[in-house]
Amino acid sequence: MATTGLEGVVAATTRLSDVDGERGELVIAGFPVAELASNATFEETTWLLWHGDLPTGKQLDDFRRELGAQREIPEATHRLLRDCAKADVDPMDALRIAAGTISLESEDQSAIVAKFPTIVAAFWRLTKGQTPIAPREDLDHAANFLYMLDGEEPNAERVRGLETYLNTVVDHGFNASTFTCRVITSTGSDLVSAVVGAIGALKGPLHGGAPGPALETVFEIGDAARAEQVLRGKLQSGERLMGFGHRVYKVRDPRADVLGAAAERLYRRAGDMSLYTLARHVEATAIRLLEEFKPGRRLQTNVEFYTALLLHGIGLDVSLFTPTFAISRVSGWIAHALEQREAARLIRPKSEYSGRRDRTWTPIQNR
Ligand code: ACO
Repeated sequence: MATTGLEGVVAATTRLSDVDGERGELVIAGFPVAELASNATFEETTWLLWHGDLPTGKQLDDFRRELGAQREIPEATHRLLRDCAKADVDPMDALRIAAGTISLESEDQSAIVAKFPTIVAAFWRLTKGQTPIAPREDLDHAANFLYMLDGEEPNAERVRGLETYLNTVVDHGFNASTFTCRVITSTGSDLVSAVVGAIGALKGPLHGGAPGPALETVFEIGDAARAEQVLRGKLQSGERLMGFGHRVYKVRDPRADVLGAAAERLYRRAGDMSLYTLARHVEATAIRLLEEFKPGRRLQTNVEFYTALLLHGIGLDVSLFTPTFAISRVSGWIAHALEQREAARLIRPKSEYSGRRDRTWTPIQNR
């Protein structure tokens, strides 16, 4: 009997990232995730994935300018986003719909990365009845995204927090959205088609859709004394605890440590540790109860739990969590698409047929 989720199947060779689920290690283009995440700007991380090495000062300046110059989105995209806001569509659906329109002007890989934050910020403001704020060329990628949300130039701590997040989740082996992107690319299709398909895969709650519900659980608990009762109730009724468990990691997701430390710094500087302390308690209780309800499954904290805490601390609305994940991961998707083009091999696995055979045709009047 074939596995239904391709667990453990090696589908490609990649130089982009390595996920060791038993040791809880993630390497991104040669760097342990903690080393890269807290030092790099998002431009440096994107360059690293696309070119294999860190950029020189001149390369980085040129790349910054290249991204900055391509942030504007076409008027047709703005119109579609207005319609999406009126129809109250899900933010990831709005991103998917709008990302497809990037082909109107360019299919260049930098243009795709440059326009994602503009789409996400514009849609978010429209859903709140506000006019989108035009991007600024002089700001870096992360700072410009925060600026487009509220029109304020963000302080260095918020920018550093967001860059740490974007660097941490930029690539992660053959996760579902990256696999989707590579399958589409392997047919000889274009980059915009590949990232649009990947957005669809990222949207689901088993992949990128978990941080919102993870934070909502922490808010629902509200007080550490209620953690056990609320989480036990969820597990008793068969619910999954969002932000826990992973297909590959059987120990703590190393990204949870990087994001947890970034969140702690942010909340400490802001002078209010109450949400952070509550989240730590919820996490410890969840891990204990998961071991009780699912013994031997080794369910640990995944990236989404601290994503939620960090992005909330930066001041992002829950509805922005998964689109912000896409703003980062699109650089990784494109790196994989480029690698897939080099491999130049159609991805086309087999299926095992479990249906009937040798049926004979029944005319409509006899059915
Ligand atoms: N809460 C409760 N039970 C869980 C959880 C959870 N978070 N995760 C897994 N389990 C249980 C399953 O019900 C299953 O139990 P069973 O064997 O008694 O039926 C067992 O643990 C194994 O789970 P699988 O579904 O086989 O594990 P899989 O590898 O398919 O799932 C996944 C991984 C989808 C991430 C899962 O752990 C989950 O649903 N987590 C919650 C959602 C979440 O946090 N998603 C973000 C993932 S990180 C990312 O993609 C960026």
